[in-house]
Amino acid sequence: MNADKNVHHTDFLIIGSGIAGLSFALKVAEYFKDSSVTIITKDNKKESNTSYAQGGIATVWNKSVDSFKQHIEDTLIAGGGLCDESVVNLVIEEAPDRLQELIDWGVQFDKKEDGSYALGREGGHTQHRILHHKDMTGAEIKRALIHQIEQKKNVQFLDFHFAIDLITEHQAKQQQTQRKEEITCFGAYVLDLKNNQVQTFSSKVTLLATGGNGQVYNTTTNPSIATGDGLAIAYRAKAEISEVEFIQFHPTALYNPGEYPAFLISEAVRGEGAILRNNRGERFMKQYDPREELASRDIVARAIDTELKKSGAPHVYLDCTHLDYERFTAHFPNITEKCLGLGIDLRKDYIPVSPAQHYSCGGVNVNKKGKTSVKNLYACGEVTRSGLHGANRLASNSLLEGIVFADRAFKNLRKRFHKIEAPVRIPSWNDSGVVKNMEQILITHDRHEVKTIMSNYVGIVRSNERLLRAERKLRVLYEDNKRLYDHSELSLGLCELRNLITTAYLITQFSKKRTENCGGFFNADLVDL
Ligand code: FAD
Ligand code: SIN
Repeated sequence: MNADKNVHHTDFLIIGSGIAGLSFALKVAEYFKDSSVTIITKDNKKESNTSYAQGGIATVWNKSVDSFKQHIEDTLIAGGGLCDESVVNLVIEEAPDRLQELIDWGVQFDKKEDGSYALGREGGHTQHRILHHKDMTGAEIKRALIHQIEQKKNVQFLDFHFAIDLITEHQAKQQQTQRKEEITCFGAYVLDLKNNQVQTFSSKVTLLATGGNGQVYNTTTNPSIATGDGLAIAYRAKAEISEVEFIQFHPTALYNPGEYPAFLISEAVRGEGAILRNNRGERFMKQYDPREELASRDIVARAIDTELKKSGAPHVYLDCTHLDYERFTAHFPNITEKCLGLGIDLRKDYIPVSPAQHYSCGGVNVNKKGKTSVKNLYACGEVTRSGLHGANRLASNSLLEGIVFADRAFKNLRKRFHKIEAPVRIPSWNDSGVVKNMEQILITHDRHEVKTIMSNYVGIVRSNERLLRAERKLRVLYEDNKRLYDHSELSLGLCELRNLITTAYLITQFSKKRTENCGGFFNADLVDL
């Protein structure tokens, strides 16, 4: 192996090409014109949770009817008392400026005939405040951001490059004077998936923007890239993480057995007046919350779960038959087309829906500057726990969190980047002792097993017994995977499996430690009888 060919030096290493990674990349590339910026992403450039975002981005846009105070209150209520109020305030107050930046970068949000922006509404919001591009907001954002990135001469954008681990360990030897507990990040080891070679990327600054972890569950709206890599990577680097037990289940994924990931029926559809009905055709949300279909997601998802357990049916229905069809198809062309393709005519048929894993509210701890507990390691977007979401994220606050924290990390680096020294003496990847030709089918089996364990035991409703079972089974999987990982040739499947097991284990452990039900976390044994 030619060591030099596989060692790269860059000023900024950005792991992930969703809204968080790309908006950060644009800002640092523009401001630090003489710097080198490298974005790596594990799949093609477009693939990310961001690309599938439907509903849009929440912001207070029309101040004659809406206010920061109301958006803040809605966010705090959804978060079940666990949001960091100062973070909520700053995100919501900075939101209009960040939205204007997206518009300036070319993102087209839908407008009304009078030229003003068409604002949607979703569960938990007391106002129409969601800027959107039909029901394909994320794809439009990605289009515009990728176009902007491609104009930047100092950005190298590498697709099919998978971050395996952060480089941190050698620093203790290198800097004996450093406090023992202070860990510094010097870049990452990356698997180039096109030729299956491990490359070393040393960097002054590393940004983790790897998104979510929905693939630990059987049913999720998240694409296959969402394997919890960033969380597991940060955990192995000893970064602080928290609140990963708060998994958000979206109430209305299309019930279409065999389709992975689950196709989302946006909450904005309920914002337009769609009604939930059980298998007897009865509207049921009134029994669960006075806000009915527009209660926050945790409440609607649990209500559906209860209905399903009572009836034994695999899904409930979303009824759009009373809505103006022309208006509906203009706002939701993607959903209309999907339903039509399955023979569902929204003018007369109900849509079968059931809850699916959708979002990870907790993650790698970041402060208000987007800094993790590891020096020179920043993080933003879904991989983080910033304090914005608490126990349950308010709809359409996620894309927002990504752009606000990318901006905050950038602004912090404007002040301190010049002080950061280039890393030296980075150890190269050691792949001695590996056995080739390991049976790939073992990875497939184990990946299946993780999903089954999490769906059966660490889902919408958990219990002490379920969590214990999950923990025990995951421990066995961990041991098996460790043996494989230590002795086999690296592959995407093997690395992802390692991260899925770690992520599942962390969700289970944090669930065991939580002693009160709150927001998206519900343990049946904690309910007062
Ligand atoms: P992502 O967009 O997920 O990007 C992560 C990137 O990291 C990807 O490019 C991925 O390939 C890369 N990556 C991951 N691991 C590695 C690795 N090991 N090495 C290299 N690269 C890696 N939120 C809203 O606010 N409004 C909405 O309307 C909305 N709708 C949604 C609809 C759907 C179907 C889904 C799934 C989510 C939706 N969300 C919505 C949530 C929102 O889309 C995500 O939380 C947000 O896009 C996350 O952005 P991100 O930049 O943090 O991560
Ligand atoms: C949706 O459109 O329902 C998803 C919005 C979100 O996850 O914020």
